[in-house]
Amino acid sequence: MSKLLEGQVALITGGSRGIGYAVAEAYLREGAKVVICGRDQARLKEAAARLSPLGEIQAILCDISDLDQVEAMVAQAIARFGRIDILINNAGISMTYGRVGDIDPRRWAYVIAVNLIGTFNCCHAVIPHMLRQGKGKIFNLKGYGADFPSPRVTAYGATKAAIVAFTRSLAREYRGTGVTANIFSPGMVKTDLILNGEATAEGRPHREKIGWFIDMMANPVEMPAALAVKMASSENDGVTGKEFQIMTKRKFLFRLMKYGLKRLAGRSARSSR
Ligand SMILES: NC(=O)c1ccc[n+]([C@@H]2O[C@H](COP(=O)([O-])OP(=O)(O)OC[C@H]3O[C@@H](n4cnc5c(N)ncnc54)[C@H](OP(=O)(O)O)[C@@H]3O)[C@@H](O)[C@H]2O)c1
Repeated sequence: MSKLLEGQVALITGGSRGIGYAVAEAYLREGAKVVICGRDQARLKEAAARLSPLGEIQAILCDISDLDQVEAMVAQAIARFGRIDILINNAGISMTYGRVGDIDPRRWAYVIAVNLIGTFNCCHAVIPHMLRQGKGKIFNLKGYGADFPSPRVTAYGATKAAIVAFTRSLAREYRGTGVTANIFSPGMVKTDLILNGEATAEGRPHREKIGWFIDMMANPVEMPAALAVKMASSENDGVTGKEFQIMTKRKFLFRLMKYGLKRLAGRSARSSR
C-alpha cells in the first residue's frame, strides 16, 4: 500500500516531545522526511535518535521566538531537503499558571513570543519557499482558551485565540497561490505542557482542582497524530481556512454526559452499600 505522505518534507516545530513528537513519528511512518526543532539540545538528540530508524530526520536547535534562529533553521532544512511541503507550527508553551496580578510579566510576554510571534516567524520564513514550489500546507495549533475563557492561563488563551484569527487571515492572503493555512486543534493530551507547568502560589490549588477535567478530556497522543497525517495528505489538497479538530462540540458534550453518568452511578452504588 502506498504511504500517505511519501516524498513530502515536513517541518514540525517542537517535535522533540509531546504531540509534535507523535506527529513526527506518524509522518515518518507515512514516508515523509521530517525536520524537528526545540530549545533543549539533549532532548532533541534523544528524539532524533529514537526517530531515525523510521526514516530521514533532521533535528535543529532553535527557539522559534527568535526570527534569526528560525531563518537559520529553515535555511538548514532547505539545504538538506531542498523544499518544505508541510509546516506544523506545533511548538508552544503555557508557562506560569496564575492570575494576571501575580504572574511575572516577562514570563507572560515570553508565552506571546513563542506561541504567537514564533508561529508568525516560521510562516514568514517558510512561505517564500512554498511560493517558489507553488505549493505548501501550513497548520497552526489551536488550544485551550481560543473558544472559552482561560482564567489563570491568560497568555496561553490569548495566543490561541490570536492563532485562529491569524490563520484565517493567512488563508485568505495566500488563496490561489497553492499555499494553504489551516487550524489544527489536537484535543487534550497528557503532555508536559498541561501536567508539568509552573504555578504561582495562588494558582497551584486551582490547577490541582482541574485534574478531573484533564482526566475526562484527555486522549492518547496517537489520535491527534493520526489526524495530522490525514489533514496533510492529498485528501485535503487545496483545503484552506479550515479547522481540523479532534474534540468537536458534539464529542465534548458526549464526553461530559458520560462522565456525569459515571459519577452518578458511582454515587448511587456507594449510597446503596
Ligand atoms: N497537550 C494538550 O492537551 C494540547 C491541547 C491543545 C493544544 N495543544 C498545543 O499543542 C502544541 C504542542 O503541545 P504539547 O502538549 O505537545 O507540549 P509539550 O509536550 O510541552 O511539547 C512542546 C514542544 O515544543 C517545544 N518548544 C517549546 N517552546 C519552544 C520554542 N520557543 N522554540 C522551539 N521549540 C519549543 C518543546 O521543546 P523544548 O522545550 O526543548 O524547546 C517541545 O518539543 C502546543 O502548541 C499546544 O498549545 C496541546
